[in-house]
Amino acid sequence: MATKYKRVLLKLSGESLMGSKSYGIDPDMLQHYSHQVKALVERGVEVAIVIGGGNIFRGLQAADSGIERVTGDYMGMMATVINAMALQSAMEGNGIYTRLISAIEMKEIAEPYIRRKAIRHLEKGRVVIFSAGTGSPYFTTDSAAALRANEINADVILKGTRVDGIYTSDPEKDPAAKKFDDISFAQVISLGLSVMDMTAFTLCQENNLPIIVFDINDHGNLIRIIDGEKVGTLVQG
Ligand code: GTP
Repeated sequence: MATKYKRVLLKLSGESLMGSKSYGIDPDMLQHYSHQVKALVERGVEVAIVIGGGNIFRGLQAADSGIERVTGDYMGMMATVINAMALQSAMEGNGIYTRLISAIEMKEIAEPYIRRKAIRHLEKGRVVIFSAGTGSPYFTTDSAAALRANEINADVILKGTRVDGIYTSDPEKDPAAKKFDDISFAQVISLGLSVMDMTAFTLCQENNLPIIVFDINDHGNLIRIIDGEKVGTLVQG
């Protein structure tokens, strides 16, 4: 069966990598992610991943602890490299071919980012993990996801979260919150909903790159999306 999407960029939050722990990396989550990604690769889907670093270090909060904003952002980028290395290791343990790329040069542990090489890896069926965000401060890993997704001509950004889509208000706080199955970029902005930060969001809007927000903890969601089932919320033009 043909899959709905051929090339996807999967955005994983660093925080969800904590799983049931209060800090760091939960090995069960690494396995959970690996198995879901493997199912996609086996269907012939080209998968690129951007992972956050919030389970280890949050750049923005660093300012409160007396660390300069830019330094904090770089520390956050380092945190994403740690997560990406863990994910690479877990995925390779599950028989998935991967290539780890860093936006900040550290060639002893990761390949430097060369767009055409990254695309070639995808064409060869390797999962490409983009780490170190955009390599620049003042950008989030959501922005890195939006940037790389556009650069590699991904069909969609799959944003894995703890909630199963975009709601009228925060479903964890408001029991009356209603979920959108589909929503336009303009509606997200006019309703003041938060999907990604504005830099990331407008990059997707300007380039008409759809985003699906879905519950990554629900095993099988990724493959359902790939098979064309309606899962989570689809944001598009
Ligand atoms: P193709 O040439 O398309 O087959 O790609 P390839 O990645 O298999 O070839 P290459 O010879 O470039 O890489 C072989 C291995 O070295 C892969 O595991 C790469 O991830 C790794 N590698 C390549 N360049 C670098 C680098 O700059 N730093 C690090 N740490 N590893 C690298």
